[in-house]
Amino acid sequence: MKAGVVGIGGALPETVVTNADLEARLDTNDAWIVKRTGIRERRHLDGGRTLTDLGAEACSMALADAGRDPADVDRLFVCTLTPDRYMPGLAPGIGDQIGATKAGCIDLNGACAGFLYALDQAAGLVESGRAQLVVVCGAEALSRITDHADRGTAILFGDGAGAVVVAPGDLDRGCSTFELRSEGAHGDLLYADGEERLMRMDGKEVYVHAVARMVEATEAALVRAQITLDDVDLFVAHQANARIIESAARRLGVPAEKVVMNVDMIANTSSASIPLALWHAERDGQLQPGDTVALASFGAGFTWGAGVITWKEHAQAGA
Ligand SMILES: CC(C)(COP(=O)(O)OP(=O)(O)OC[C@H]1O[C@@H](n2cnc3c(N)ncnc32)[C@H](O)[C@@H]1OP(=O)(O)O)[C@@H](O)C(=O)NCCC(=O)NCCS
Repeated sequence: MKAGVVGIGGALPETVVTNADLEARLDTNDAWIVKRTGIRERRHLDGGRTLTDLGAEACSMALADAGRDPADVDRLFVCTLTPDRYMPGLAPGIGDQIGATKAGCIDLNGACAGFLYALDQAAGLVESGRAQLVVVCGAEALSRITDHADRGTAILFGDGAGAVVVAPGDLDRGCSTFELRSEGAHGDLLYADGEERLMRMDGKEVYVHAVARMVEATEAALVRAQITLDDVDLFVAHQANARIIESAARRLGVPAEKVVMNVDMIANTSSASIPLALWHAERDGQLQPGDTVALASFGAGFTWGAGVITWKEHAQAGA
C-alpha cells in the first residue's frame, strides 16, 4: 500500500498588488523587479477575509477534487508562518470550517519548505496505516510579516493557500520517500524575529543556497526513487523567484517546457507555493494524471527538500 496525491485545491485573495503599485510607493520599478525576480504581481489578504477562510477554501476544493468527504479526514496539516492568531494555530479553525469533524488538526512551521515536510509526514501516516485520509495545506499571508518600506523584500512575497489530499492505494510510486534537510547555522540569513515580526534577508546568500540545495536534494530524490531526469514529466520548485527556478532547472538539465512557473502571478507564497504551482499547472493542462513530478523546496532555517510523486496515479488507473 502506498500513499498518493488524489486531490488539489488553491485559493488566492482578491487584492492584486502589481509592480506598478509598488513603484508608486517604493524606490523600485517594474523592469528591475521582472528582470531580477520574474514577479509581475502578488496577492494580499485584506478586506476582512482571514487566512483560515483562505485555507479552508483550498482544502474544501482539494477534497471535492478528490471526491472525498471532509468527515472522513483523519489528519489535517496546515503549514504556515503567519497564522491569524499566535495561538491557536490555523488548522483547528480550518478543520472546523471544512467539516473535518474527526480529524486531528495541527500547524507545522517549516518556512518555505514546510509543505514538503508535511507531505512526507502525511505519506508516512498513510503508508503505516495510521491514517486513511490526510489533507496537507500551505496557507500564508506573508504580507503580514513584510516590511512594506523595504524594497529588498517587499517586492518578493505574496499571500495564498494551496492544499492536497493524500490517500492510500495500490500504486506504483505514489509519494516516494522525500529527501529533507535543514541547516540551522544559516538561521540569520532569512528570518523574522519574535519582537519585530518582519522578514529580514540576505538576498544574495539566500539565492546561492536556494539553487545549490534544491539541485542537490532533487538529484538525491531521483536516485532514491530510482529514476533519472528523463523519467520526470514536470519539475515543480518552490516559487521563490524565476531566476532561482531557472538556474536550478538549468543545473539539473530540466528543459524549460518541463518547468512549472507561476511566480510571475503570485510571487513567493512560502509553504503555499508548491501546492499553488501544482494547482495552476493542472488547470493550465501542464500536469496530467500519471505524470512523474519532481518537487523541490527551500526556505528559512535553512530547511529544504525534494521528492518525486506520481500525480493522481489512482485517477490514471481508473480506480
Ligand atoms: C532579492 C534579489 C532579487 C536581489 O537581487 P540581486 O541581484 O541580488 O540585487 P542586489 O541586492 O545585489 O542589488 C543590486 C542593486 O539593486 C538595488 N535594488 C535592490 N532592490 C531593489 C528593488 N526592489 N528595486 C530596484 N533596485 C533594487 C540595490 O540597492 C543594488 O543597488 P546598488 O548596486 O546601487 O547598490 C535576489 O538576491 C534574490 O532573489 N534573492 C533570493 C531571495 C529569495 O527568494 N528569498 C526567499 C527564499 S525562500
